[in-house]
Amino acid sequence: MTPDVRPFVAGNWKMNGLSASLVELEAMRRAVDAGEAGPAELAVCPPATLLAQAAWKLKGGKLALGAQDCHTEASGAFTGDISAPMLKDAGASYVIVGHSERRTLHHETDALVRAKAEAALKAGLTAIVCVGETRDEREAGDAIVVVTRQLLGSMPPGGAPETVVVAYEPVWAIGTGLTPTPADVAEMHKAIRGLLGEIYAASGTKIRILYGGSVKPANARELLGLDNVDGALVGGASLKAVDFLAIAAAYA
Ligand code: 13P
Repeated sequence: MTPDVRPFVAGNWKMNGLSASLVELEAMRRAVDAGEAGPAELAVCPPATLLAQAAWKLKGGKLALGAQDCHTEASGAFTGDISAPMLKDAGASYVIVGHSERRTLHHETDALVRAKAEAALKAGLTAIVCVGETRDEREAGDAIVVVTRQLLGSMPPGGAPETVVVAYEPVWAIGTGLTPTPADVAEMHKAIRGLLGEIYAASGTKIRILYGGSVKPANARELLGLDNVDGALVGGASLKAVDFLAIAAAYA
């Protein structure tokens, strides 16, 4: 946690979810709007196909909506891609950029991630910029070097606490049930906090830094209570309202 920073718990549904899954979103919304989800801000990032329907279901409530990726351009001949203004128009207020699955499977570079984050800010979206090392990089003792390089290359100019969020997601912890030790998470988040201060000066002290990678109800309290951990980016456990809300309850 960081003093005077509201925690943020975001769910990344990845390529999961059909219209029927919106019952989970509705259950989350009910809890958030009833004040039963604790003090954290909550957001869900369903696949793009569900954004408009989800926005309709969340209209007027306090559960925020996010997307999982955006193009760098606002419009044009980019078959299959979706722009940041389109996501905003569909009802999103957040967009994840630079998730390791996109960095790896779609060969996204730091420069591309930065351009996507800039496009997000320009469209009035808050960018959730993901960074994280592989297992080999951690075992070689390079985790902080790698994340430093990613962060310096991926963060958009002019970012502020309202417009950018960082998600530290060690690649080897995603979907594996493995997590770094609390000491390793705290060390990395402290390093990221220092870098955000270098990049953004004073406003870097309040930019939210999320931890992601096998966050579950059982480990949320320990991970989310660490210094400079301002929330979580949750994959698998965000698909079910009961699990997602149990993670958010770490702040209750
Ligand atoms: P899991 O929580 O399923 O490990 O996924 C983490 C993640 O990649 C969120 O973006």
